Amino acid sequence: MKKIGFFDSGIGGISVLRDAVRLMPEENYIYYGDTANAPYGGRSKKEIYDLTMEGVNYLLSQDIKALVIACNTATSVAVGDIRKDLSIPVISMEPAIKPALENVSGKVLVMATPATLAQERYIRLAEALDSQHRVINCPCEHLAGLIEKNLYDNPSVIADYLRQLLAPYAGKAEAVVLGCTHYIFVKGAIAGIMKGARLFDGNAGTVAHLKDVLTAQGIKEPGGRKGTIILNSSSDDQYTLKMYSRLLSAEQ
Ligand code: DGL
Repeated sequence: MKKIGFFDSGIGGISVLRDAVRLMPEENYIYYGDTANAPYGGRSKKEIYDLTMEGVNYLLSQDIKALVIACNTATSVAVGDIRKDLSIPVISMEPAIKPALENVSGKVLVMATPATLAQERYIRLAEALDSQHRVINCPCEHLAGLIEKNLYDNPSVIADYLRQLLAPYAGKAEAVVLGCTHYIFVKGAIAGIMKGARLFDGNAGTVAHLKDVLTAQGIKEPGGRKGTIILNSSSDDQYTLKMYSRLLSAEQ
């Protein structure tokens, strides 16, 4: 039985995989996180493109029936070219600006990597949706890297960084878009600083879309069975893989 491949620069895509497994436990999954090269968000476009292609090619060699680019940064740089050459469905991520703008009337703070916010794909999306100029971009230069390294061992480093980064916006935004899959793991800390703001992310929409696409193409596994999950990383040490499986079974 064929698997669904998930790609991210590191641990972030586990948050998307986790939602997919909850929605479709009957599917078989293979995850590849490029933790050895994470974070991607401060790298050049060419570096992000090449690393993404390497990870995607690994997943394509694993007999997958669909590919999820569970990374906003990799999507914004490479998804166009990935789609061009593939016959299997490719599902990707984009910052959830649309639901945020539709659900609040005030300012919307978009937290994402500098690379995501600089790409044409994001700039066009924001221009198309934000006619009233309510979007405020917040490039989070170090956040994904700090989450990758400190989530369990040293969470106060992340909390300190977030307090500094978000201080200018506290009380000023009605919504916050988590435009990077890593940020899902620090949702609580962000909500605590941005009191009263509604948080939006693309995870639920992405996995719902994945399900629709599998169903429409007739390649969805029937329910009533439990599929398998393979976790893989470019950083093949035990710590990384343990972290992946810990996050996969975490509640939030
Ligand atoms: N998880 C990623 C995203 O959604 C990438 C973070 C990074 O590697 O900088 O953008």
